[in-house]
Amino acid sequence: MLTIAQITDLHITTDTDPVNLWRNAERLQHVLKSIHALKPRPVAIFASGDLVDRGEPEEYEALIEILRHVEIPIYFGIGNHDRREPFLAALSGHGVQTDPNGFVQYAVDFGDLRVIVCDTLDEESEGGAFCEDRAAWLAKTLDEAPDQPTVIALHHPPIASGIRWMDPDPKAGWIARLANAVRGHDQVRSILCGHVHRAFNGVLAGRAVAAAPATSIQLTLDLTPVDMRNPDGREMLVEEPPGFAVVMAYEGQVNTHVCVAGDYAPAVAYTSPFVRG
Ligand SMILES: [Fe+2]
Repeated sequence: MLTIAQITDLHITTDTDPVNLWRNAERLQHVLKSIHALKPRPVAIFASGDLVDRGEPEEYEALIEILRHVEIPIYFGIGNHDRREPFLAALSGHGVQTDPNGFVQYAVDFGDLRVIVCDTLDEESEGGAFCEDRAAWLAKTLDEAPDQPTVIALHHPPIASGIRWMDPDPKAGWIARLANAVRGHDQVRSILCGHVHRAFNGVLAGRAVAAAPATSIQLTLDLTPVDMRNPDGREMLVEEPPGFAVVMAYEGQVNTHVCVAGDYAPAVAYTSPFVRG
């Protein structure tokens, strides 16, 4: 049994923002405590972007300070709230690698399981991007280990959540390029992402897509149409508990658990033999 924890959308900041972003450090600590208590302890943590809120160097310093006491190796991907230059300046010494074109893309092997980190950042927009160069790197990297069970990890879901102000155009070129790079590579078991601040699942190119909940604040599950130019007073964010995901490689399968962080009392203990009937 091999497990990897996924955390996402940490949004660490040095600002005392009115949307109570300042509490994100505390929320992340709850998540990290829950991850350390997992049985077995994950071999790694992958943080899938939006590590900080405004992409500022001081925010990355604050993040590194929080992570100083983590006892599990951490790997980082980049999200739309990150900025490449300060991201790389802060994290290149912490396992982050770039592909030959400077994108935050790299592969890490954990026993039989390979994690391929991809970069969907477009610094000009909040939405996802995956250019020909990034797609070519992914296809080439997949070609290198065709028999190794693999998960692809990126920030922006290439599928719709139904929370319309967050969703990509399903016909967007970047999604087609990602899907084309994945097709024909049977070792790809799933695509892990974040960005939506809420757990949801779907399918792209025949592969499971799993978005993890945020360690920071969650998005309200409101699937009704919205006009982003006309505020209608709807709830957009909600005080649901922070969460994370656990990717499990077991018996030839690669599956995902979604977890709520926090201290919860045990309900039942194993004190007598199971009776199957
Ligand atoms: Fe985010």
